[in-house]
Amino acid sequence: TEYETIRTELHGEGARRVALVTLNRPKQLNALNDRLMTELGAALKAFDADDGVGCIVITGSEKAFAAGADISEMKPLTFIDAYRTDFISRNWETIRSVRKPVIAAVAGYALGGGCELAMMCDFIIAADTAKFGQPEIKIGIFPGAGGTQRLPRAISKAKAMDMILTGRNMDADEAERAGLVSRVVPAAALIATALEAAETICGYGAPSVTMAKECVNRAYEGTLADGVAFERRLFHAVFATADQKEGMDAFLTKRPPQFRHE
Ligand code: HXC
Repeated sequence: TEYETIRTELHGEGARRVALVTLNRPKQLNALNDRLMTELGAALKAFDADDGVGCIVITGSEKAFAAGADISEMKPLTFIDAYRTDFISRNWETIRSVRKPVIAAVAGYALGGGCELAMMCDFIIAADTAKFGQPEIKIGIFPGAGGTQRLPRAISKAKAMDMILTGRNMDADEAERAGLVSRVVPAAALIATALEAAETICGYGAPSVTMAKECVNRAYEGTLADGVAFERRLFHAVFATADQKEGMDAFLTKRPPQFRHE
């Protein structure tokens, strides 16, 4: 498929490959306009449905993962426009329905909606050049793509309030200390590191990967008792997969596993 505001490519060999999606509005520092979010949603849905894809990586440029939602598009918006078009649920929340793992590989600015998009991914690998922030307050709004909810869960209420109310940026080291990102790597190694993590995931049995992702997401959505009960149901179910028998047999007979993703 031809897209105007993103680029897509497949990496790796084997039955399940990595889909790399690159946000591509370089002149606007990847400002997330309606077109881009619609194209990103379409690409994510297509890769999620493709049995040849095991994991998805979303990245931007060296200078910016994304500098936020597109301010020139938002400026004229009225309440009724926003309400009628369901801004931003209509095309931003597609990513939440993706069942395969999605990794954000962030270099440069991840601000406003860019930070929120990164947080919608399953985990964030950051270059040492990464800068995270929710500067919406400076332009008379506040985070509206989940930032007021995901940031406190990711980095504590105190740090989230600090970020959202002062609009200051965090560098990659502070983001790692705070738990927003899973690792920080030199900028030149960012894409290779993210692809390697994604290829590792592609090599595991797909049912167990999907179940693990579903269970971890439950940790945020309900009570601890509910989450543990949900985990237990899926944990029982994983013993119905061929990959469980294969993985354990391979370990016990000291050979590499041949997962069939079923
Ligand atoms: C539209 C943007 C943009 C944005 C940058 N640009 N960010 N356009 N929306 N979010 C454009 C600039 O206008 C400029 O266009 C070009 O990209 C390069 O940006 P510069 O500002 O010249 O670059 P630099 O001086 O290096 O500064 C980088 C920056 C700054 C610090 C990231 O661009 C910046 O502060 N951007 C806005 C960050 C922000 O407020 N984000 C939150 C948006 S609100 P020209 O045409 O002049 O070259 C939001 C709400 C989300 O995200 C919630 C609902 C979705």
